[in-house]
Amino acid sequence: MQNISLNIEGVRSLLTEDEINSFTEKVSDIHNSMIKRTGRGAEFLGWLNLPSSIPEYSIRDIKETALKIRANSDTIVVVGIGGSYLGARAVIEALTSSLPSVNGNPAVLYAGNNISEDYFSELLGVLDKMSYSIIVISKYGTTTEPAIAFRLLRNHIEKKYGKEEAKSRIYSITDKEKGALKKLSDEEGYTTFVIPDDVGGRFSVLTPVGLLPIACTGIDIEELINGAADMETLLNDDQEIEKNISNLYAVIRNLLYEKGKAIEIMAAYTPKLQYLIEWWKQLYGESEGKNGKGIFPAGVIYTTDLHSMGQMVQDGVRNIFETVLNVQSEKGIVTIPEDPNDLDGLNYIAGKRLSDVNAKAIKGTMMAHLDGGVPNLVINIPELSPYYIGQLIFFFERACAVSAYLLGVNPFDQPGVEAYKKNMFKLLGKP
Ligand code: PA5
Repeated sequence: MQNISLNIEGVRSLLTEDEINSFTEKVSDIHNSMIKRTGRGAEFLGWLNLPSSIPEYSIRDIKETALKIRANSDTIVVVGIGGSYLGARAVIEALTSSLPSVNGNPAVLYAGNNISEDYFSELLGVLDKMSYSIIVISKYGTTTEPAIAFRLLRNHIEKKYGKEEAKSRIYSITDKEKGALKKLSDEEGYTTFVIPDDVGGRFSVLTPVGLLPIACTGIDIEELINGAADMETLLNDDQEIEKNISNLYAVIRNLLYEKGKAIEIMAAYTPKLQYLIEWWKQLYGESEGKNGKGIFPAGVIYTTDLHSMGQMVQDGVRNIFETVLNVQSEKGIVTIPEDPNDLDGLNYIAGKRLSDVNAKAIKGTMMAHLDGGVPNLVINIPELSPYYIGQLIFFFERACAVSAYLLGVNPFDQPGVEAYKKNMFKLLGKP
């Protein structure tokens, strides 16, 4: 079985081997502090050994609940914000059809990640016509956006099905004992799953937070966990920087940052990875952007964005580096047909698969960006499957922690997100 891999050839002209190796001691200290749980925010390191320690019975429970939901719902509404929905959405969008579902799987809609009235009224309009269940995810149930959405949706589902049936269509994922959502769930008798105490929101995709919505779409969650567990073994065991891709990625990002590359653009050449990039942006943005420091995580989907952001990347301020998510093999086979008239001049690529053309776009773009002063890293993903997405998740999580520690910040808190809330609550007159 292959693994995901990291290719750093596109940064070699900027960094020396010695510079990379100068991080050896720091990386080893970070590794030891993570294993011994002595670093900053160590009480949130539960994700570090999570994939290998998810009990069989939890997986069974999640799969059985998912089957129950699928049996009576053509739509599932996932209510949550930030780490409470992005991981699930990332995996679901990477691994299910990008087009309206035709395969009998329930549609997944999302709520509670914005406060747009238009969005919500459209959502309620759709739910009027669908049979649906709700999965509501919040550590304490008091985060404003999902709390508002859940209040509205509870109202809707209770009117639609009656209070009793509504209770059996609401599933909550929340703290094991504290908070408004736990209290309500106990009172109403909702089926409830627990968010572990030692796993923060943005690291929680492999807990029920991500696994239940993912399982509802028919994705093989055991394969997802297997991929993550194999990465866990690989990355937690061998600390040598060049051999450990999470350490290598973390070190290189920090070196590039020190050299003035303050923006990292994550680029994928398939829209299926758009939400994986959104998840990565949250993971790195919320973990690293602290104390006036941090690499700004941005995202693009190419070749789409080569016709918009491509100009900026090629020619704008030279403070960026790029990380490319390279899917090495695609399953759907689409070949470009021959055309006798060849008015569009495409016969020179007739007979080629779209993935062959995409591969050349990747190569050509990376060369152009490197020539234009944008160094690039490549993360090779053998194919989009639950196993490799699982590998990718664990790789990014571990690299994020190492990278934030190298930067000198606590990867697991997010004090900055309180500022907008304080103002909003004051403006709303919250007692
Ligand atoms: O990563 C995080 O901790 C945050 O993004 C949270 O997941 C997000 O704010 C939602 O929090 P909660 O689950 O408490 O509603």
